[in-house]
Amino acid sequence: LPILPPDLSTCDPKGTTTTPPGSQEVVKLDVDCCPPFTDKQADYKLPKFKKTRIRRAAHRLSREEVEKYKLAMAKMRELDVTDPDDPKGFTQQANIHCAYCNGPYDQVGHPGVDLQVHNSWIFFPWHRWYLYFYERILGELIGDPTFALPYWNWDNLKGMTLPPAFDDPSSPLFDENRNQDHRGKAVVDLTGRSGITDPTQLVSNNLALMYKEMIGGLDNALDFMGTAYRDGDESPPFGLGGTSENGSHTGIHIWVGDPRNKFNEDMGNFYSTGRDPAFYCHHFNVDRMWTIWEKLPATYSKKIDDDDFKNSAFMFYDEKKNLVRVKVADCLDYTKMGYEYEYSDLSWLNSRP
Ligand code: C2O
Repeated sequence: LPILPPDLSTCDPKGTTTTPPGSQEVVKLDVDCCPPFTDKQADYKLPKFKKTRIRRAAHRLSREEVEKYKLAMAKMRELDVTDPDDPKGFTQQANIHCAYCNGPYDQVGHPGVDLQVHNSWIFFPWHRWYLYFYERILGELIGDPTFALPYWNWDNLKGMTLPPAFDDPSSPLFDENRNQDHRGKAVVDLTGRSGITDPTQLVSNNLALMYKEMIGGLDNALDFMGTAYRDGDESPPFGLGGTSENGSHTGIHIWVGDPRNKFNEDMGNFYSTGRDPAFYCHHFNVDRMWTIWEKLPATYSKKIDDDDFKNSAFMFYDEKKNLVRVKVADCLDYTKMGYEYEYSDLSWLNSRP
């Protein structure tokens, strides 16, 4: 059976936990990340749209585009102060990630079994929905229904640093909880912590890793998407996610997270990662990787023909504060969701080892 959407009324404000890397121990966190409650909910219908939102590479944004993004983010942060219970606020948006990943929700009908959206085949679909609403909310806040967010193009030579727009301390896109050695011109390490510092070596390792996780290391769709995860299953352990989730995706989280903090907050832990605006920019590229992988030629089918997968469902607040239930099936064709990624050169296509 499919994963059921969580029951918001049973979210446990004291149920937030984390398991530090390399340990088995479950640590309790004093963080209430449950969403505002309402008993009104509806099935979400993808709205019709006239114009496709074009998500651009962050390093190519014009000055005006950055200013617009900053304005939207400033408004989202403002809600934290003026109306902390508004689900459109930045902290509320960050808490969504915590609630779905750090234990406050049990699976409906399975008390004691956490709902976890990582390390399995719901990783890509869940995050796609999360970003979809996040983008629509920011657009709503600035009155622009075609507003699109940028992707951190870390698979491209020109995008292999923290996008400059996020590195300006006076900007609402900034977060001080980041690794200070990885700001400015520091080249990303898609493995997260290889210890390599030579930029040329890092670039070539990054490209080789991309080739491997997108093409070379894959025999079937689940290798890329992640293991099956069904109603009542225990949280899949780290490592059962797909190649992209385990690889470049986790690498960037570790690389940006602040080693001065106990749990590498913000980007280095599920509960706090959404507090860094760069997190969303990172995940737009993760989502883009899904769209690219689907179009690459392969010897196996890219489709997951399993009703448990397609019928898995989640709850989100939309840009009008309606609590809606969304299904995996409805996000599989992203073009119906009204966005597209601006093309950027895939340098790693030729990086077969
Ligand atoms: Cu939900 Cu990049 O993690």
